[in-house]
Amino acid sequence: MGENLYIPEEVSKEELYKSLYPQLKALVADESDLIANMANITSALKEAFDFFWIGFYRVIGDRLVLGPFQGPIACTSIAFGKGVCGSTWKEAKTIIVPDVDRFPGHIACSSQSRSEIVVPLKHNDIVVAVLDVDSNQLNSFDEIDSYWLEKICALL
Ligand code: SME
Repeated sequence: MGENLYIPEEVSKEELYKSLYPQLKALVADESDLIANMANITSALKEAFDFFWIGFYRVIGDRLVLGPFQGPIACTSIAFGKGVCGSTWKEAKTIIVPDVDRFPGHIACSSQSRSEIVVPLKHNDIVVAVLDVDSNQLNSFDEIDSYWLEKICALL
């Protein structure tokens, strides 16, 4: 794929995901390195949606370790079952948090994060990483995000 991302303007969130999906698919198609592909996916989604923070945490041993991301610096290590990320790893399913202050055990990497979605990335049904997206506003994520972010993670 070329180096330019086409980002349609003034379209719905769903239309934006629909337009981006084939571009992201092409972006990762010729590269087998997971880190390289994670890096480009976070960059593309940050550019398209202007998310406050987006990034991957990879399962390494008994921790989630910070991977490619876009946004402010973040905590580097999260234990199994801890925070939204560790809970997503444990439950192996997407978690949407409309208000982080109401999620017991939420890990505040930034005091500006108000809502969050975390999607598991699986290989042979085992969680190998999670994709975490944070917003500085409440209620930013819904089933449209979970549907498309899960599809995007499945590209990796
Ligand atoms: N809030 C996450 C931690 C990661 S940062 O938001 C980047 C959590 O509770 O797992």
